[in-house]
Amino acid sequence: KIDISTNINGIKISSCIMNASGILCCTEKELYNLMMSSSGAVVTKSCTIKPRKGNLKPRYFEWKGGSINSMGLPNLGIDFYLNFLEKKNSKKPFLLSISGLSIEENYLILRKANISSNMNAIELNLSCPNLLEKDKILGYDFSKISDFLENLFQFYKKPLGVKLPPYFEDFHFRKMAFILNKYPIYFVTCINSLPNGICIDINKESVVIHPKKGFGGIGGLSIKPFALANVRKFYTYLRKDIPIIGCGGICTGKDVFEYILCGASAVQIGTQFLKEGIPVFDRLIKELITILKNKNYSSLNSFKGKLNVF
Ligand code: DOR
Repeated sequence: KIDISTNINGIKISSCIMNASGILCCTEKELYNLMMSSSGAVVTKSCTIKPRKGNLKPRYFEWKGGSINSMGLPNLGIDFYLNFLEKKNSKKPFLLSISGLSIEENYLILRKANISSNMNAIELNLSCPNLLEKDKILGYDFSKISDFLENLFQFYKKPLGVKLPPYFEDFHFRKMAFILNKYPIYFVTCINSLPNGICIDINKESVVIHPKKGFGGIGGLSIKPFALANVRKFYTYLRKDIPIIGCGGICTGKDVFEYILCGASAVQIGTQFLKEGIPVFDRLIKELITILKNKNYSSLNSFKGKLNVF
């Protein structure tokens, strides 16, 4: 019997594979479908205080190597998600993703979430790449992040994890880990899409998405090496009791295996989930179990984090 369950700081997850925030997890119907699926947990679309329509279309494009998006946080608003969580009847873990447009808005959302009970943890999105140019990606502003976390843990006492943007430099990994290690961070999800990519249609000699002159977040296969490296670096630098959820370019069971080997405790599926829909979870579970069988591993702990180096 092969066990692919995992444990995120006490949240028991029967399969280590779940959706990435943003993908088919915005509406009641989408959340219901995820709840009934073999996804190990459900992550909700990052929400704001008020409902948002998001950016102008076209705002998503995919090709064989990945995807580009500039959705601009279309979501139904925090009250919808809290209400959904209140009335759902399912034992499956739910992670409520939040992404206020400012630090003040994040405090407001967290105060609302603080008094609601029916969620397992917040996934605080510190990495949305698709707002206005003046709205910086919070995850890249180390001193702002520091103050923000300091303030929020004064009043927010429930489980809270963070979703990070990709980093590229060893110094940045160490700096971010140093900040996170000071707080009761429940988990770290890395990575969000790679910000400010551009894709081109040579027939039209044009960009492929409307918002922000065509610049958007890159996801899917192309970003996997960067995402794996982020998981590996944070696995090395974070406190050992902070689990990592890996996200970026997972298409097969082999990809899932690579993430766990780098130190991830669970993984999230974005671009490939959008391409394939709910069946992706059964397929990945099957492919992962086949690999574990062939390697004679009975659970994730047999190889988690045990990446060999020369
Ligand atoms: O790639 C992304 N797109 N990441 C986010 O955090 C937000 C999302 C959007 O709605 O633009």
